[in-house]
Amino acid sequence: MSKPLIAVTGKNGQLGYELEQLSESFQNEFAFLFTDRTMLDLGDTSGIPVFFEKYQPAYFINCAAYTAVDKAETEREKANQLNAIAVGIIAGQCSLHHCTLITISTDYVFDGKGTKPYQTDSPTDPVNYYGQTKWLGEKLALEKNARTIILRTSWVYSKHGNNFVKTMLRLMKNRPELSVVSDQVGSPTYAADLAAAILKIIRSLQSGNSHYGIYHYSNEGVISWYEFATAIRELAGLNCKVLPIPASAYPTPAKRPAYSVLDKRTIVADFGIHLMDWRKSLQHCLDKLRIT
Ligand SMILES: NC(=O)c1ccc[n+]([C@@H]2O[C@H](COP(=O)([O-])OP(=O)(O)OC[C@H]3O[C@@H](n4cnc5c(N)ncnc54)[C@H](OP(=O)(O)O)[C@@H]3O)[C@@H](O)[C@H]2O)c1
Repeated sequence: MSKPLIAVTGKNGQLGYELEQLSESFQNEFAFLFTDRTMLDLGDTSGIPVFFEKYQPAYFINCAAYTAVDKAETEREKANQLNAIAVGIIAGQCSLHHCTLITISTDYVFDGKGTKPYQTDSPTDPVNYYGQTKWLGEKLALEKNARTIILRTSWVYSKHGNNFVKTMLRLMKNRPELSVVSDQVGSPTYAADLAAAILKIIRSLQSGNSHYGIYHYSNEGVISWYEFATAIRELAGLNCKVLPIPASAYPTPAKRPAYSVLDKRTIVADFGIHLMDWRKSLQHCLDKLRIT
């Protein structure tokens, strides 16, 4: 019997890259098809039904997205096309072809004014336009396909792609001091850990688990961007001085949440996902950056 096919979008993004790395350990159970925009362009949704007809995936992991949070405030149509409209069409095709959809969402679907971890059913109120498009994508994905898992995550970084960790390393190597926002707190997510969690979920579904819906995933721990930067400096052995500043001193086109901690209890309970400590995961990523 042929192995179930897992199709993945955004293979050149942080999460897509980590999934491809990890897929080698799952080759006995699953076949994989990693796509980039030349193979499946979410900006031109006419290709999506053709893709499903041709490949008939059993699982579809949507890692592609419009992720330029600040630019999304002005490139609204483009952000909405990728993060909402395309996700709805993918979900419709998943339903037609009996495929399970796993699509990634964000802590930005919340208003960021909370004081305790957001639960999967906490009221949403997107903090910026990017968050609004991701929220609409969630809604369409759930409406159009019963077998949908939404994974909300936050502060994603990897050895691959652009992210806070790599930006900090670059700046810290070239500057004597750096100011970093200290009044916004959340939880970092090492993309390799998220990739492992996704494949564990798929393995569990393949063995008969039938939980679907919204889940939260990040590394364990709550820190500010300033604390994150300080840890990067310490673990990387750099000397740059890191100074705390309020978010008001670092204005951005898109608003950012002051509090964006996600409650992850349901993903642990329903799928047995082990949550990695943020500092240990940061160390893993820095080790990989040193090797390559
Ligand atoms: N990064 C974060 O901090 C964060 C936080 C919360 C949630 N998320 C969500 O997590 C998921 C993965 O994020 P990430 O950090 O891995 O994103 P990323 O590194 O920015 O990668 C996004 C991917 O989307 C692809 N893409 C863009 N436009 C496309 C199009 N028209 N058709 C097909 N593919 C297209 C990009 O392809 P190219 O390489 O060709 O541009 C890239 O591979 C996304 O859903 C994101 O919204 C991210």
